[in-house]
Amino acid sequence: MFKKVSKVKLNNGFEMPMIGLGTYARKAEPGQYRQAVEWGIELGYRHIDTASCYKNEQEVGEAIEMKIKDGLVKREDLFVTNKIWNDHHAESEVIPALKNSLKEMKLDYLDLFLIHWPVSIDAKGEDTAIDYIETWKGMEKAVNLGLVKSIGVSNFNEEQLKRILKHANIKPVVNQFEINPTITQHKLVDLCKEMSIIPVAYTPLGLISEARPEFIGKDVIKTDPKLGAIAEKYGKSRAQIALRYLTQRGIPVHPKSFTKSRIEENLNIFDFELNKEEMNIMESFNLNHRCVPGRAFEKYTYYPF
Ligand SMILES: NC(=O)c1ccc[n+]([C@@H]2O[C@H](COP(=O)([O-])OP(=O)(O)OC[C@H]3O[C@@H](n4cnc5c(N)ncnc54)[C@H](OP(=O)(O)O)[C@@H]3O)[C@@H](O)[C@H]2O)c1
Repeated sequence: MFKKVSKVKLNNGFEMPMIGLGTYARKAEPGQYRQAVEWGIELGYRHIDTASCYKNEQEVGEAIEMKIKDGLVKREDLFVTNKIWNDHHAESEVIPALKNSLKEMKLDYLDLFLIHWPVSIDAKGEDTAIDYIETWKGMEKAVNLGLVKSIGVSNFNEEQLKRILKHANIKPVVNQFEINPTITQHKLVDLCKEMSIIPVAYTPLGLISEARPEFIGKDVIKTDPKLGAIAEKYGKSRAQIALRYLTQRGIPVHPKSFTKSRIEENLNIFDFELNKEEMNIMESFNLNHRCVPGRAFEKYTYYPF
């Protein structure tokens, strides 16, 4: 049996599970998202992370509906995160986009709604340069209408976080960005914590992507013998050690998998603890390498990296 997944308290009093099932995939077979989310809920995940741009809201929603129908969970047991895409950043577009996501997922509310990226782009790929402060006003409306319980941001840098805090009536509860042993992000993590904003780790397994060929061969999470030795000591996998390293820093994680055994494995990280020396070894893998550099957004106003 798994040790119970711990939760983190958000700055508005709501609680969020420390692990959520990621659902982004570059390619998927029909039904694959639905199957992964069904397995996830059956295995004990209570937090699901999706986004309108993942084009899987319908399948994710169907899986949730199915597991509620089965009597396995109630809606209030689940924490569902979704994100607004870059082409709906005008204040007036936020609520319609959110309502569309809720309709796709057959849900009455979201637990957490994020601005996916600070950049704003129209359907033709033109830079609309809409200030994310304007988008935030629409996000605040979503809370006031009771359509979402909490709002937050994703891929925001230090300056953007400070700026949003200056203008916000409702504070963001999280900033979701890439954190893993090859991009440890201490500066941004510390700033989030100072601001009572929870830093949430996407791409927590840090598997080096082909987007950065210069880093291939430095795939320490897959290959480093020191990491391997830590994994062996605890009878865990390398992936579990990477996830444990993050949660032990107080950072919630969103690993994605379509493989049932891995979905299960990734949840099973709450029954052991890395010691200080092992945490230091994990820290030594930092390369400040981004698996998700958001290259496609480089030319736009408010590009964060
Ligand atoms: N806000 C944002 O801009 C943003 C950006 C990126 C990601 N995200 C969110 O974060 C989630 C996770 O990020 P990600 O999908 O990029 O990366 P990830 O979760 O770090 O890695 C996923 C990859 O690792 C494999 N994997 C999963 N568990 C494993 C294990 N135990 N051992 C070995 N391999 C394993 C998966 O393969 P299989 O599926 O084949 O098992 C998949 O190829 C996304 O799904 C999404 O929800 C958000």
